[in-house]
Amino acid sequence: PVASVLELGGVKIGREDVMRDDPTNNVPDTIFSKLGMQLHRRDQHPIGILKNAIYEYFDTSYPNKFDKFDDLCPIVTVKQNFDDVLVPADHVSRSYNDTYYIDAQTVLRCHTSAHQAELLRRGHTHFLVTGDVYRRDSIDSTHYPVFHQMEGVRVFSPDDWEASGVDATSHAAEDLKKCLEGLANHLFGKLRTKTLLSKCTLEKWLEVLGCGVTEQEILKRSGKTNNVAWAFGLGLERLAMVLFDIPDIRLFWSNDERFTSQFSKGQLGVKFKPFSKYPPCYKDISFWINESFTENNLCEVVRGIAGDLAEEVLLIDNFTNKKGMTSHCYRIAYRSMERSLTDDEINELQWNVREQVQSKLNVVLR
Ligand code: PHE
Repeated sequence: PVASVLELGGVKIGREDVMRDDPTNNVPDTIFSKLGMQLHRRDQHPIGILKNAIYEYFDTSYPNKFDKFDDLCPIVTVKQNFDDVLVPADHVSRSYNDTYYIDAQTVLRCHTSAHQAELLRRGHTHFLVTGDVYRRDSIDSTHYPVFHQMEGVRVFSPDDWEASGVDATSHAAEDLKKCLEGLANHLFGKLRTKTLLSKCTLEKWLEVLGCGVTEQEILKRSGKTNNVAWAFGLGLERLAMVLFDIPDIRLFWSNDERFTSQFSKGQLGVKFKPFSKYPPCYKDISFWINESFTENNLCEVVRGIAGDLAEEVLLIDNFTNKKGMTSHCYRIAYRSMERSLTDDEINELQWNVREQVQSKLNVVLR
């Protein structure tokens, strides 16, 4: 049962505010039900434990405190989410296929960078923003349409780099590198007491992170013409999967005690012990696609029906015939993290998938 009114960052949000009767709206029930869950604000949850460990690093490593935000509303304007951070007008991330739109001007933020410009404008110079972010995506063990990011921003003044004798940009880049290395040591060092980061861990570390010296234009627009800054955006799930040995991203959303009871406040990197492995069941579906078909749309249909029982949707065959018609075959893996599924149950899911794939995506089943 999903509550129909939520409180997000002090704002009351009703179901009808998110799933608006607007032709551009593409927010399904499964996504609405995730709003307000705020896994990152639970001290006993791996995502919250990780957030607190990163806070601890910034609190102990920097003389000037970073301002922390973890309760900003995930409903933002297109301007905040894209324009203010200079995402080009034709960038794919702006498409209805990649982002959840509430209406033409309003989206569920697809990154915590959506709050950068406003916080800079309000005068913050050191800050961390943690939040749930939303992206339409395919289905596998490392992708989920809701995940969590932490954004870090640090602004420098002329005093900072003049003292160091290097130019402003180099100073910011050097400082960013030091900051992230220190953070990696803080998080991984706890597990591998002082041994160097292994190659594998380093690769995973880079995979979970976007970062750089901030575009001058962003600072200029927020009234900071004499400054430079760095910013990073960390994907918390990917990092937590490495730190806690969590094999599937769906587990973060599990209420099963056999999952939740394994984690406690302040305990970073306790290795998750899988409670049981239930067998997956595979079902194939083939159809002739049309011009508007996308894999993200297919995955949205599958999730709408199977929810977290859908483990993977994989394209296993793709061909075009002499008439120019293209056929796709997808293999859907159904598996519960918590129990065995019955044949009847899976057959019914697959039946519904077949029906909705036809009616919602307008494709022709083979
Ligand atoms: N916003 C970027 C993303 O979500 C990550 C990022 C943040 C990159 C800050 C650079 C600076 O992919």
